[in-house]
Amino acid sequence: QPVKLNPLMQMHKEAADFYQKVLMTTKIGERGLEYARKRGLNDDLLKHFKIGYAPGKSDLLLTYLRGEGYTDDQLAESGLFVKSQDGRLFDRFRDRLMFPMSDESGHPVAFSGRRISDDPEEPKYLNSPETSIFNKSDLLFHFSEAKKHARKEGHLVLFEGHMDVISAYKAGVKTGIASMGTSLTQQQVYMIRRITKQVVINYDGDDPGQHATERAVGLFKQAGNFDLGIVILPDKLDPDEYVKQYGSDSYQAAIRGAISTTDFFLQRLKKKYNLNNEREQVAYLREAVAEIAALPNPVEQDLYVGRLAKETGVSLDALKVNLSRARRKQR
Ligand code: CTP
Ligand code: MN
Ligand code: MN
Ligand code: MN
Ligand code: MN
Repeated sequence: QPVKLNPLMQMHKEAADFYQKVLMTTKIGERGLEYARKRGLNDDLLKHFKIGYAPGKSDLLLTYLRGEGYTDDQLAESGLFVKSQDGRLFDRFRDRLMFPMSDESGHPVAFSGRRISDDPEEPKYLNSPETSIFNKSDLLFHFSEAKKHARKEGHLVLFEGHMDVISAYKAGVKTGIASMGTSLTQQQVYMIRRITKQVVINYDGDDPGQHATERAVGLFKQAGNFDLGIVILPDKLDPDEYVKQYGSDSYQAAIRGAISTTDFFLQRLKKKYNLNNEREQVAYLREAVAEIAALPNPVEQDLYVGRLAKETGVSLDALKVNLSRARRKQR
């Protein structure tokens, strides 16, 4: 006997089914399907992620759900509709590829709609507003599915966007979840912590993505002892673009090649300084040594200081003196 869902959740399930049916089987859905194909979404992916299409017309979902017996009050509080001045309801999502966003048990509770037209007046992604069943800050895209795979794989991979999760999935990385943007929340970190402490962060390779990676590392460190890996893709690519350009094997290798947070920090630090200038090199070394001194494991400290010596040509002895000074200062 299936558990009876609350009406808003039942409505979201029916809406997701409706949007998918429009995408897969109707004439007005062809436009959505064409876009989906262009983005590399095959039927298996469309089904696994329950992707659909919201047509351009303003009352198709409304008419459908009224026919299913939902009251206007229920429809109004679902977030799936907008109200006009005179109180009439209209479909919120129009001419968009629809990604259902599910709660921890896999029930859709909200949608994110990708613009299909190239109208710059329209936001690229439109999300459901917060409702009694949807709280943006404690939902991770694909979480209910990814956590099943994480039991076998041991780790989760964190992305910015839906399409990154989906393309990684296509490339064989099935443990992907998305924070849906660059502002990961503490609640999302706690959700992840309940599943695994091993997390690979694979945000977009552009500047905002790298900044967001730094911020995310801070949130994870605040929340406990995570084992973090960082993947920074080349040429400012996001994971979806990378998979398209370099293929699945190369992408899997990139995930396996995730670097430590210390390496990530040191790489970013290096870019801040002009290392041909001696004063800047000294400043770089000071910051780098301080970062290394904060590592809990002396073996790790040794390893990174050794590398730093090799890389800069400064003697290991001198760096070690600085390291113990930095350690004392931090205590
Ligand atoms: N996002 C959003 N609203 C926007 C832009 C972005 O909600 N106007 C969220 C979406 O969840 C998006 C994520 O932030 O997936 C990452 O943004 P971005 O990298 O700009 O988008 P992509 O995921 O790369 O989108 P696409 O590949 O479809 O262009
Ligand atoms: Mn699965
Ligand atoms: Mn981005
Ligand atoms: Mn992106
Ligand atoms: Mn993208």
